[in-house]
Amino acid sequence: MTTLPPMGLSVADIDCRMATARTGDVDWRNGRIGVYIHYAGEDVLNIAKRAYLEFFSENGLGPKAFPSLARFEADVVAMTLGLLHGGGDARGAMTTGGTESIFLAVKSARDRARLERPEIVRPTIVVPQTAHPAFNKAAHFLGIDVVRIPVGPDFRADVMAMAAACGRDTVMLVGSCPAYPHGVVDPIPELAELARERGLWLHVDACVGGFIAPFARRLGVALPDFDFSVPGVTSISADLHKYGYAAKGASTVLYCDEAAFRFQAYEFSDWPRGAYSTKTLVGTRAGGAIAAAWAVMNYLGEAGYCDRTRRILAVRTALEQGIRRLGLEIWGRPELSILSYGSRDLDIFAVADRLAERGWFVGRLVDPPGIHLMLNLTHEAAVDAYLGDLAAAVETVARTGQTAAPAAATY
Ligand SMILES: Cc1ncc(COP(=O)(O)O)c(C=O)c1O
Repeated sequence: MTTLPPMGLSVADIDCRMATARTGDVDWRNGRIGVYIHYAGEDVLNIAKRAYLEFFSENGLGPKAFPSLARFEADVVAMTLGLLHGGGDARGAMTTGGTESIFLAVKSARDRARLERPEIVRPTIVVPQTAHPAFNKAAHFLGIDVVRIPVGPDFRADVMAMAAACGRDTVMLVGSCPAYPHGVVDPIPELAELARERGLWLHVDACVGGFIAPFARRLGVALPDFDFSVPGVTSISADLHKYGYAAKGASTVLYCDEAAFRFQAYEFSDWPRGAYSTKTLVGTRAGGAIAAAWAVMNYLGEAGYCDRTRRILAVRTALEQGIRRLGLEIWGRPELSILSYGSRDLDIFAVADRLAERGWFVGRLVDPPGIHLMLNLTHEAAVDAYLGDLAAAVETVARTGQTAAPAAATY
């Protein structure tokens, strides 16, 4: 069993042990993984690291002690609201990640319902089957039920079915931009209309798309409206540590107005140390994560984000074409940086196993069975190698009729 060393180790020893520890880690720099990593170039990484280290010790819990961090957070929220068409009354906060942003939106929806619809004993939220598990996680902690509704044949939310699932206890609807499994965007304008008709809270989970969809549209991708430009969208989650390219531990949760935002805060004073008040779930917040997000957004600007988005969309198109050429099928019509694909003839998990043998870290989709990729700039240089290894994997599985041993698809 590991115990605390009686005497501290030398720096060299620590370096050596860390280097040894990471020998089994995936080779993300060479594009070998399509999940967890959002790389936008060495220059962006360096800006994020510098800013993180500059504010390594500062704590976002103390805006009075560190007005710099308060300023950075206000700027990040304002810039993000600008991208997502927040009006003059729109508000928001930085959080530690998509899960915290979603947790806070669900909590706010629940607390608004407690105030306005006190007859509801156990609130329900209605989400498409493709919504992220964070909604169930939040609901689990918050005493809420989640109803998951099957998506349509295009893998997008089935708005009619969601409408039919709304009952007396429903307080919230959810749509994603895009949903993680197939990378398609839910019909937010239709969901917003339903939300308005029924007086429900609509959360748009743009954890993946928040910092890529606005630029994709500028580049001519025909995405339907998905943000606060749609009346009825109450809150949005948009992750800075995904396609905002910030250091990990950074997301935003945004509200259409102050009236919705106010349900998020927590205040307490019945203890000896005086009033405690936070806008988000956590207490201590890494100053580095806040500063890095601010620095990266200012470093990249509109032009930098447009450039990264254009390149990621080009990688996706190249992969889609190559995958189709091998006789495989893309699931749905991916619109941004995620794609998943499978086969009507071959055991796609056997193909995944062959890819894994060649050093790729393969994300697996369960429904329909498939291989899942979330792209970043490390994949630019890896497209040919990936398609080459995929061709070999497909050839082997087709020739031998291999099937995969059942294995759990884990995320
Ligand atoms: C659509 C979507 N929502 C929410 C999340 C949760 O984000 P995080 O892992 O930062 O908590 C993810 C993570 O991939 C996601 O893809």
